[in-house]
Amino acid sequence: MKLGFVGCGTIASAMVTGLCSTRSAGPITLSPRNAQVAAGLASRFADVQIAPTNQAVLDASEVVVLAVRPQIASGVLSELRFRPDHHVVSLIAALPLECIRSGTTPAALVTRAVPLPSVALRQGPTAIHPPTQLIKALFEALGTAIELDDESEFDAFAAATAIMASYFTFASTVSGWMTRNGVAPDNARTYVGEMLRGMAATSLAAPDRSFNALAEEHQTRGGLNEQVLQLTTRDGSFVALDRALDTVLKRLQAGASQ
Ligand SMILES: NC(=O)c1ccc[n+]([C@@H]2O[C@H](COP(=O)([O-])OP(=O)(O)OC[C@H]3O[C@@H](n4cnc5c(N)ncnc54)[C@H](OP(=O)(O)O)[C@@H]3O)[C@@H](O)[C@H]2O)c1
Repeated sequence: MKLGFVGCGTIASAMVTGLCSTRSAGPITLSPRNAQVAAGLASRFADVQIAPTNQAVLDASEVVVLAVRPQIASGVLSELRFRPDHHVVSLIAALPLECIRSGTTPAALVTRAVPLPSVALRQGPTAIHPPTQLIKALFEALGTAIELDDESEFDAFAAATAIMASYFTFASTVSGWMTRNGVAPDNARTYVGEMLRGMAATSLAAPDRSFNALAEEHQTRGGLNEQVLQLTTRDGSFVALDRALDTVLKRLQAGASQ
C-alpha cells in the first residue's frame, strides 16, 4: 500500500513511527509541513520520503491520510486534486464523513478514523467508520481497530479520546501528592506508572467484568479506596467528567474547530 500523509504533526508522526517500527510498511510520503517532524521521520525510516507539496503526496499515494487541524481542513482540501482510485482516511475529528466526501471528490472511498498517540507503540484502539477492510488492516497493525457502522457512535468514540490529558493529570496529581509527602520524584513516577499499568492489565485480562464491578472489587467496605472514591464522588469529579464529555460531543457534532 502506498501511503501518504497530508499534515505531519503529532498523530501522523505517531502512525508513521508505529508502522515503520517493526516491518517494512511500504512507501510512505509525507507533506512538507511540519518540516522538522517530517525530516525526523525521513531520517529514521528508509520507507519515508517527503514530498515538495501536498498535491505531490496525493500523486504518490493510494491511501491518503488527512491529518491537519480542522480549522484549515477545507482550505487544504480545496487546493487538492484527488483521483477516483484514492482511498482517503480522515483523522480530522470534527469533520463529518459527508464533508470529507464532498471535499475529496472523486476519491472512491472515504473512511474516518481516530487513532491515539499510542499507535506509535502499536498499542491502543482506533475507531473507524464506516467499516473498511483495507483501513481495518492498517490500524490492526497499530493496535486494535474497532469498526463502526454508525457515525454518531463513531463521534462518541472520538469524544472519549478527549480524556487523555485528564488521565495524565490524574497521574500527575497522585505522584505530585506522593512527592509532597516525602517520596523521591523518580520513585513516585515509577510507582504511579506501574500501578496504572497493572490496573489496565487487570481490566484487559477480564473483558467480561464491567468497570463498575472492578471498582467494587478494588475497594473494601470502610477501607482506603472506598474513602477516596466517596470523597471524590461527593466533590463531583465524575459528574464533571461526564458533563465535560457531553460538551466535547456537542462540539464534534457541530463540526466546530478544536
Ligand atoms: N493528536 C491526537 O491525539 C489526535 C488523535 C486523533 C485525531 N487527531 C486529529 O488529527 C488532526 C491533526 O492533529 P495533530 O494533533 O497531529 O495536530 P498537529 O500536531 O498540529 O499537526 C497538524 C500538522 O498540520 C500541518 N499543517 C499546517 N498547515 C498545513 C497545510 N496547509 N498543509 C499540510 N500540512 C499543514 C502542521 O504543520 P506546521 O506545524 O508547520 O503548521 C502540523 O504538522 C486533527 O484534525 C485532530 O483532530 C489528533
